[in-house]
Amino acid sequence: MTTIVIRRAEPGDHLGVAKTFTGRSAAGGTLQTPYPSEAEWKESLAGDPKRNYVFAVLLDGETVGDSDLHRAQLSPRRAHCWGLGMAVHDDRQGRGIGTRLMRTMIDLADNWLGALRIELTVCSDNGRAVRRYEKFGFLIEGTHRAFALREGVFVDAYAMARLHPRPPQLPSI
Ligand SMILES: CC(C)(COP(=O)(O)OP(=O)(O)OC[C@H]1O[C@@H](n2cnc3c(N)ncnc32)[C@H](O)[C@@H]1OP(=O)(O)O)[C@@H](O)C(=O)NCCC(=O)NCCS
Repeated sequence: MTTIVIRRAEPGDHLGVAKTFTGRSAAGGTLQTPYPSEAEWKESLAGDPKRNYVFAVLLDGETVGDSDLHRAQLSPRRAHCWGLGMAVHDDRQGRGIGTRLMRTMIDLADNWLGALRIELTVCSDNGRAVRRYEKFGFLIEGTHRAFALREGVFVDAYAMARLHPRPPQLPSI
């Protein structure tokens, strides 16, 4: 039986996370390249864990994907906004792993961080990812034209966002 574990990524997970992005789909669907640097990931994973919640998904102990929920910007006026990104290794996509990662991040965002707005960009031809986000309440807000270079071609990206469906309330006085 396969064991799936989703937990916070630690600096020592850099090798597994870098490996995910050797896949052209994982790199092309995000803003990575298929030539990831292990040193860069080590540095990135050593960043402030209170501003960037990175998760690793392990299949029988092997890292096969990751996701992150990070503070969108430094301005206090955007303190309610968080950014989201995720990738599953090319060979493991379409098996429900992305869905499980999303459930974990939405639980963290809604119930523990009180994130009122979560935003992301996704290539407009990435039907699998767009459907996944819509299923979790994200809406398309607009299109960035020629947003990023992918496999030698400029691709458009949707700006998507989700507002907290049940924002936490203060007790009445
Ligand atoms: C997007 C991604 C994270 C989703 O993870 P995943 O493990 O592949 O997704 P799941 O297996 O949980 O979900 C697949 C869903 O997409 C659907 N799907 C599969 N292929 C699809 C396609 N070509 N078009 C539309 N929907 C598709 C499946 O039916 C399933 O939907 P369901 O749960 O309603 O049945 C993953 O595919 C990935 O890493 N892609 C490359 C990187 C990327 O695009 N990251 C997102 C950047 S914003």
